[in-house]
Amino acid sequence: MLLKFVTFYALVQGLNGFNTFLPNTTVPKSYSLCIAPNFENEDTSFVGLVQILIQTKNITSEVVLHSKDLNITSVNVTEVSTRQSVGLKELVYNKDNEQAKIVLYQSLPGNHEYMIAIRFDGLLRNDMTGFYKSSYNQSQTGTENFLAVTQFEATYARSAFPCYDEPHYKVPFNITVGVSDKQIALSNMPLSYKDHKDVCELTNGGKNLSWYHFQQTPPMSTYLVAFFVGEIASLKSSSKVNVYTRSDYLEQTQYALGIAPKLLEAMELFTGIKYKLPKLDLVALPDLGFGAMENLGMNTFRERLLLFPEDSTTQYKGAVTKTIQHELSHQWFGNLVTCDWWDYVWLNEGFATFFEYFATATVEPDWNLPEFFVVEQHQTALEYDQLARHSLSTDVFTPEEIDNSFDRITYNKGASVLRMLYSYVGKDVFKDSLKLYLTKHMGGSVNPKGLWDAFEETLSKRKQTLVKDQTVNEVMSTWTEQSGYPVVNVAKHKNVTKNQFVMTQERFTVDGFLGKCFTKWFIGVTITSDLKPTFDDLTAVFWLYPKDDFYIIKLPLETDKWFIVNLQSTGFYRVNYEEENWLALIEQLKNAPDVIHVLNRAHLVDDSFNLARAGRLNYTVPLELTNYLDKENDVIPWYSVMNSFNYILDRMRRSPLYFEFENYVSDKALIIFTKLERQVKQEQIKKYAINASFNTFSVWACSLNLQACVLPAIRYFQAWQKGEKIPDDQKHVAFCVGLKYHPDSDTWNQVFQVYLKTQSASERYSALNALACSQNVFLLMNYVELILKGPNGPIRPQDYRAVFNSLSSNQMGIKTLLYFLRDNWDRIRKELLNGDSVAETIYSILASKVSLDDEIILLNEIRSKPGIPSTLQKSFDFVYKQVIINQKWFDTYSNDINEFVKLDSSKDDPISPRTSAASPINSVGSLSTITCLTIIHLVVLFIYYN
Ligand code: BES
Ligand code: ZN
Repeated sequence: MLLKFVTFYALVQGLNGFNTFLPNTTVPKSYSLCIAPNFENEDTSFVGLVQILIQTKNITSEVVLHSKDLNITSVNVTEVSTRQSVGLKELVYNKDNEQAKIVLYQSLPGNHEYMIAIRFDGLLRNDMTGFYKSSYNQSQTGTENFLAVTQFEATYARSAFPCYDEPHYKVPFNITVGVSDKQIALSNMPLSYKDHKDVCELTNGGKNLSWYHFQQTPPMSTYLVAFFVGEIASLKSSSKVNVYTRSDYLEQTQYALGIAPKLLEAMELFTGIKYKLPKLDLVALPDLGFGAMENLGMNTFRERLLLFPEDSTTQYKGAVTKTIQHELSHQWFGNLVTCDWWDYVWLNEGFATFFEYFATATVEPDWNLPEFFVVEQHQTALEYDQLARHSLSTDVFTPEEIDNSFDRITYNKGASVLRMLYSYVGKDVFKDSLKLYLTKHMGGSVNPKGLWDAFEETLSKRKQTLVKDQTVNEVMSTWTEQSGYPVVNVAKHKNVTKNQFVMTQERFTVDGFLGKCFTKWFIGVTITSDLKPTFDDLTAVFWLYPKDDFYIIKLPLETDKWFIVNLQSTGFYRVNYEEENWLALIEQLKNAPDVIHVLNRAHLVDDSFNLARAGRLNYTVPLELTNYLDKENDVIPWYSVMNSFNYILDRMRRSPLYFEFENYVSDKALIIFTKLERQVKQEQIKKYAINASFNTFSVWACSLNLQACVLPAIRYFQAWQKGEKIPDDQKHVAFCVGLKYHPDSDTWNQVFQVYLKTQSASERYSALNALACSQNVFLLMNYVELILKGPNGPIRPQDYRAVFNSLSSNQMGIKTLLYFLRDNWDRIRKELLNGDSVAETIYSILASKVSLDDEIILLNEIRSKPGIPSTLQKSFDFVYKQVIINQKWFDTYSNDINEFVKLDSSKDDPISPRTSAASPINSVGSLSTITCLTIIHLVVLFIYYN
């Protein structure tokens, strides 16, 4: 942090003496904050007094802190030891840096303590940041109930009270909140006492508020401070965990109330460190900008990610449980030990995502969560990171850059890289290292080196190393400091003994992006083969070093037919083989797939499709590989299949032969749909993976218009219209199919009423999604136009993205969104809250979906509109690159796909793999990727291959 600060300071030290970072000439020691919202006037507002005990580091006559959109009414500075006040010369604001500078008449000597008392007021916000208001209708009284709550991560505490709003400043807070009749207040700590004395003199004696004085917090960052004011209730709890919601939904807290203490204990066991705070509140909010937020001791959630009505889907139960686990994990990773600066926020989010699966798995061992991790996190991270992205640790300065860095790299790749290390060092070393890391940095802030050093120390105590002669920091930095990831090309050495392999590594990309193609990583290789297929030992048998161009490896491993590298898909890399090995693997899959570990089956599917997409493998390989799927009884590889096919389906919409390909995919989808339908409906299996997947694959099968899926869904829907209940796990798809096949507005309105009135957040979400399934373009346009009614309309801003996503899942919806964005451009930008970011969201969703010429023309038209602000223009141009890449994909590969499908449909009994005729290495692709290797490289390889 210090180095970063110094370098950056030199770069951007402004003329006015302001800088993105606080100058660190003074530091906070503790805060006392009194704050009270006022709901009475039209312009709901708040008043506050913050008293910050600070210490001077150097001599200075200025105190700079963060403040945004606040009206500071008075500032008093007093020297603590003498109680003498220091005269205020002026208060200077810097809007760009969201800072206020208190300029004093006299210089303050270094290493002295001062008390800064600042009175301020502001408007309660309505953009779900800072101290914001929200409301809901209470069913009993029919009245609109208001509440006010905070969301401070990453840089919004400064809009609720002046503060040192950087994560490394960790100090205790004393918080007092004023509330009026009927309302209560919650905050990070339990209530200390409640009275009617306005000791902070915030209300001029005018109003009789109740003052909630909370116990002092442990040292903490400003972004984790939280308070809530409103009417809210909780059931009695027998643990530290309380679950709060509006009184109408109280019953729906039972599930969280039961599971959360177990999830908390799972974290205590995994880390070996107790949760020490006296309580932990989980608060369900009608409006929250994110899914959930980990404020110390007071986590906030969207209602649909905390409440669990009895009739919810299995998938929904998974989402609620993982979300709770995610936020609980942050109490250790983020709250107890905090990232120094937002560059390293993956230390917070990567761990929390990792524990969603690996801590929850200890509570729900039958849910197969470690396997779901691979398709939900690892493969989605690989997919995202194969275009130009930022590295895990990445330079961010402004609030906008910070917000944008909470992406799939930070979450999914962060978690996947941690899982990779977990597999290399094993559970015991991993746990011991985490315990050491947490203990050493408890209450403080860190950078990744702090984490890697804990691993180093743990390994060295056991006289072990991760990689010989290398520090853990050196090894892991290749994964966290560089963007992208490698593909490992493996071949059997032709001439020598059976057990020699030749390997090379290079950066894997799908967009022909050649910059930095010499990036190399420390890669732990795990390998097995047909003669003794064992997939359990995940420690590396060999390391590829970044300094080497190629590797000839002799391994204690005999192979007759095939071998596999990257066991259980633990390494964050793809693997490519020679044609012969791919064909042998396909044969094995077709004959007895279970010989290969389920995660490697998913990995072979995912790698082969993406290698083909990058031009490194002929599409005949992945397509032929999917012919084993009749025998695939596990759902996990099917997720990889579905995702891989969906990319191609989206692209092939512009092909005249689209329906042939869709038929081909439908045949596959029918296999998994029928299997799951039998297990769920006839065999009545109750198993998380089966029931949750039935939901997913029904949606897929019905979107492909498979009659086997559509007919029962319509029957359920029609029975529901007559008042019958739809089985929980089929409601989602039944609503969607119902509206797809009933284009009349009455039916649409019937589901819309569910959206408006249901008490169940799960059902509300299914309805919200289904409303986009209609094929009536007028209804779709009416639907998306509801957004223009703003925060007081029927769709809450937190749900906009869900509406856009659902619309983008079908062609009619894509058109609707395109016209909506083009024709309502000004209204979206001017009338909606954060209109530019709404436009940005729609645009980027569309960029990944458009395929037809008229869609692309419209998308281009939008980005060429006059007067687009430069940041928005930049973001449009950046995501538009995806359209060009996708078009290029179509031009290069659609013929291969069509050819394969044609041949496949003309063939009755697929006995021999089609790939034997053509080389699986695609000539176009190999040309574009070959440039990454030097000529010397090629010569050397040539010598060794021959
Ligand atoms: N700390 C985040 C919330 C957040 C994200 C705040 C970005 C500020 C900027 C929280 O822990 C989180 O990750 N929430 C997730 C839900 C989770 C289940 C993945 C979210 O909101 O998507
Ligand atoms: Zn998180």
